[in-house]
Order: sequence, then structure tokens, then C-alpha cells
Amino acid sequence: MAEYHEYYKGKRILVTGGAGAIGSRLVRHLTDAGASMVMILDNLSSGYRWNLPAAPNMLLVEGDVIDEIRLKRVFVERPQVVFHLAAFFANQNSVDHPESDLSTNGLGTLRLLEYANLVGIERFVYASSGCSIYGSAAPLPLREEFMSMNLTSPYQITKMLGELYCNFFFNHHRLPVVKTRFFNSYGPGEVPGQYRNVIPNFIYWALQQRPLPITGTGEETRDFTYVEDIVDGLMRAGYFEAAIGQEMNLASGTETVIGNLARDINALTGNTAGTTASVRRKWDTKSRLLASVERARSLIGYTPNTPFDTGLKNTVQWFRDNWENIRGSASFPPGMSSAVRPTDAMGVSPTPRSPQTR
Ligand SMILES: NC(=O)c1ccc[n+]([C@@H]2O[C@H](COP(=O)([O-])OP(=O)(O)OC[C@H]3O[C@@H](n4cnc5c(N)ncnc54)[C@H](O)[C@@H]3O)[C@@H](O)[C@H]2O)c1
Repeated sequence: MAEYHEYYKGKRILVTGGAGAIGSRLVRHLTDAGASMVMILDNLSSGYRWNLPAAPNMLLVEGDVIDEIRLKRVFVERPQVVFHLAAFFANQNSVDHPESDLSTNGLGTLRLLEYANLVGIERFVYASSGCSIYGSAAPLPLREEFMSMNLTSPYQITKMLGELYCNFFFNHHRLPVVKTRFFNSYGPGEVPGQYRNVIPNFIYWALQQRPLPITGTGEETRDFTYVEDIVDGLMRAGYFEAAIGQEMNLASGTETVIGNLARDINALTGNTAGTTASVRRKWDTKSRLLASVERARSLIGYTPNTPFDTGLKNTVQWFRDNWENIRGSASFPPGMSSAVRPTDAMGVSPTPRSPQTR
């Protein structure tokens, strides 16, 4: 076992949002590493019990990150490491529900930091979003030094706000925080839905022989990062001393063209329905996304090494293996899916939108 995995053996760990796409994969690695207890604080708004491992050293506390009773419940266990992944996800959701976004991503993050500071912890790892916080005018590849005041959705603002709160707790209280900036995570564990990322949504349509809706020209690029590579970066960020107080991209460092992605997914799934064009979302102002991973490489030895075609194949396989659960959980408004659900994940009647939301 690698040294930075070994470190988690016998530790008490809190993962907020641990039932979500990335959190559920992180929880697997932490329980496998022999943590004495991996607590999950999750309100299951976009996370699923069936997505969690059946591990004896895992405890799911169902509740909100702003709920003081739930926070006391998890912090009374004195977690040594906190991975804060719970978030109101993502851009379009925040445009539709800006106050819920602020509540979870803003107040929720502040409360987590307050409790972590109160009990004293070894490390607080914050899940920030590199796709969000650099704005659209940053030179490529995106580097950590760049700052933007031109963020285009409430989600982008509150993911940045979370980083600013982390900076405050680091500078003022010397809380050992690390800010990890993810780029377009994809892989096993992410259930498709109205507000989810393009890859799970494309696979979901493709497996039902439906055309893949491309918002924009199809020439846009994204830095798709396999979830296991992100989780590896998180495990490293929770361990290496050099990470403390720093912000760093966790990305693949490669660009994929959305039109090619659609073609590959259709080929992998045998979907002959092709693609359709739909209008670009107003907040979606970035035509290209490509991150530098140099800082994470030098500070924590981060090396994303999953080839995109391997990651995509694994993801399609995960869909096939979990199809009934996925179909039962995928949440789309009427007209967007055969799996029509009356309400979206937050219990609010949704309006039809493009499924390629992020
Ligand atoms: N997926 C990506 O491409 C991506 C990119 C950049 C950053 N991120 C960040 O990574 C983190 C994890 O993302 P993900 O893709 O796993 O998202 P996700 O939606 O799958 O997971 C988030 C989890 O948080 C839970 N949650 C939401 N609101 C909550 C609340 N108020 N209280 C408690 N739990 C709550 C959800 O039920 C879910 O299980 C998030 O912080 C997200 O902003 C993700």
C-alpha cells in the first residue's frame, strides 16, 4: 500500500457529500485503506445509498451540512481528516436555485470550517472547482495564480467563496486546509440527471438509442478527469504536508472536444441516433478548458494516468452493471427522458432544459 494510503489506516475521517459521484469513490478508498471510521454527512439530495460500499467501517449520517445537530453528531467523533465535498451541484442548478446554492456551498462550508477549527483536525480538504473559478478570460493551460472577478453563475461564485473561507481559516486560525480544484470529473458513480455532467447524460441517452444533445458548436473542449485520478489527488492532498494552505488543480491536463466525445460514446454504446444541436447556456462562456497540473505534481506527486478511452469504457460498463439503479435514480424533467420523474432532486418542479448541464 502506498505511504499516503497507509496514512489513513486507523484514522477517523469525515467525508461530506460522501454519497455523491466523487465522494462515494473516495469513501471506498478510505474504507479499503483501513480507516477506523469513515463518516459520511450527506442529505442524499444528489447522492444515493446504493452507490456506497457495504463497509463495516463506514457510517452514513443523513443530514444537511448547515444543520448544527448533524454537525455536532459527526464532530463529536473527533474526525482527524475532513474531506468537504458536499455541494449544491452545479451551474444550472444554481441559476435556478441561487439561495439553496448559497446555503449549502457558502454557509455549509463556513460551518464545516468552524466545527473543524473547534475540534482541531489534521487536515481539511476542500473540493473547489477549476472549471468554475478561473472565468472565461484566463490563458490556457489554466494555472492556479489566475484570478477572475467575472464568474457567470452563483455556483461559480460560491465555490470561490468556499476557497476564500478556507483562506481565512488558514491565515487567521492556522487551520490546515487544502483547496483542490477539480476539472470535469467523470467515471463510475455519477448518476445522470437534469443538473449533471455531460458524460453520464450522454451515456444515459446513448444506451436508450436517443440522440445526444450538444449545447454549442460541438467544437468546445473540456479537461475530463477520471474520478479515480481525482480521488488519488484527494488522498494525496489529505496527506502531504506541502499541500497545506495551497490551492491546486486536479485535472487530466488534456483536452477533449465535445463533438468527438459524443461520437465516441455513440460508438461505444452502439447508438445510431447521432447528435442534435441545442442552444448554449448563457452562463457557459468557456469554449475551451485545459488545466495545468504542474503544481499538484510538484507538491503532492499527483499524476493523472487514466487514458480517456479506458475511463470512458469503464464508465459505460458501470452504467450497464448498475442500469436498474441508475434508471430509478436519474432525475430529468418530463420530455427529457423515458425515466420521467415528477420532481428534481431538491423537490422543486423542474422546467425542461438541456441535459448537458454542469
Ligand atoms: N463533478 C465534477 O465535475 C466537479 C467539478 C468540480 C468540482 N466538483 C466539486 O466536487 C464535489 C463533489 O462533486 P460530485 O460530482 O461528487 O457531486 P455530487 O452532487 O454527486 O455530490 C455531492 C453530494 O453532496 C450531497 N449534498 C448536497 N447538498 C448537501 C447538503 N446541503 N448537505 C449535505 N449533503 C449535501 C449530495 O447529496 C451529494 O451526495 C462538489 O463539491 C463539487 O462542487 C465537482
